[in-house]
Amino acid sequence: MMWKATHTEATSGTVTWKSPSNIALVKYWGKHGVQLPANPSISFTLDACHTVTRMDWTPNGAEEMNIRFYFDGEEKPDFLPKIEQFFERIAPYVTPLSGFDLEIHSHNSFPHSSGIASSASSMSALALCVCSWERQFVEVSDAEFYQKASVLARLGSGSACRSLYGGLVAWGKHADIADASDEYGVPFAEVHPVFQSYKDTVLLVDRGQKTVSSTVGHQLMHGHPFAEQRFGKAHENLSDLLVALNKGDLQLFTQLVEGEALMLHAMMMTSTPHFILMKPNTLSIIEKVWAYRQETGTHLCITLDAGANVHLLYPQVEEKGALAFIDSELAQYCQKEHYICDQVGLGPMQQTEKL
Ligand code: PMV
Repeated sequence: MMWKATHTEATSGTVTWKSPSNIALVKYWGKHGVQLPANPSISFTLDACHTVTRMDWTPNGAEEMNIRFYFDGEEKPDFLPKIEQFFERIAPYVTPLSGFDLEIHSHNSFPHSSGIASSASSMSALALCVCSWERQFVEVSDAEFYQKASVLARLGSGSACRSLYGGLVAWGKHADIADASDEYGVPFAEVHPVFQSYKDTVLLVDRGQKTVSSTVGHQLMHGHPFAEQRFGKAHENLSDLLVALNKGDLQLFTQLVEGEALMLHAMMMTSTPHFILMKPNTLSIIEKVWAYRQETGTHLCITLDAGANVHLLYPQVEEKGALAFIDSELAQYCQKEHYICDQVGLGPMQQTEKL
């Protein structure tokens, strides 16, 4: 690392990043230490579901760091504890931010109350802003820059570390991915072209606050009766999924991805205390999708994150039929018939326009 300027020479500045959400195919559920995963995971980086975050910094001539946070143009002091926790966690890894006033402005492309988790896109966008800030003082390659942003994003929210690259991103050590790490996500490039343009239509079944947070769900994997089997199965499923991704085997892909989603929810249903995040409409959608797949021989595949919403994954060539089916048969199960059309995306982009 080469120091470019001393901290005390710093002036005011601003940076804006747009960073996407991601949807896991093999799920991360259970953690240890400081946000380290109990098992490896892999996700599609999304495109339409993203956060744009701007960070302004001004030297304040004092030792402390002050933060003001704005969401959609409105100051939101109630978001500060989460943001301050992020800055506390990353402090050992970054050039000290003390001596600066930070103003952070954020906007999500998807409705705040949609039930779509914004932690992956928001934490990765904020991590990128911090890394851009640090780049004034430290010379780093682009590869080092994104890797560090992934580490910082992970400290904010585990799954956020997979939002730093486009396409498919793996996180957590795994025998079949040489450069995989528990500390950061790595892009996984050995992918058949069919998966580079995969579609994800997110059916918004429930916009309400989740009854059990991911943080609590992760904790409940400690002492969970099936924890060891689950972690072992995630390794196995990831090995098999890598083969499906590489070969373009859509049948194997569907079998593994749906199995992972249901196993994630099975872990919730068998925790102590147990809980269920799916809703009756989640199950109605799953049944209809399975019947549709049987009838049409197409590859519409469901996955779930830690909530009631359903992600429908399918190849681009099947888009027309899938959208017609969603519109006529599935929209009725969504709150206000609302769904979001997304697809595999290219990863974060620095913005030249101010938010
Ligand atoms: O990053 P967290 O702590 O919100 O956990 C996310 C967990 C899942 O979305 C359920 C799975 C995953 O790998 O993204």
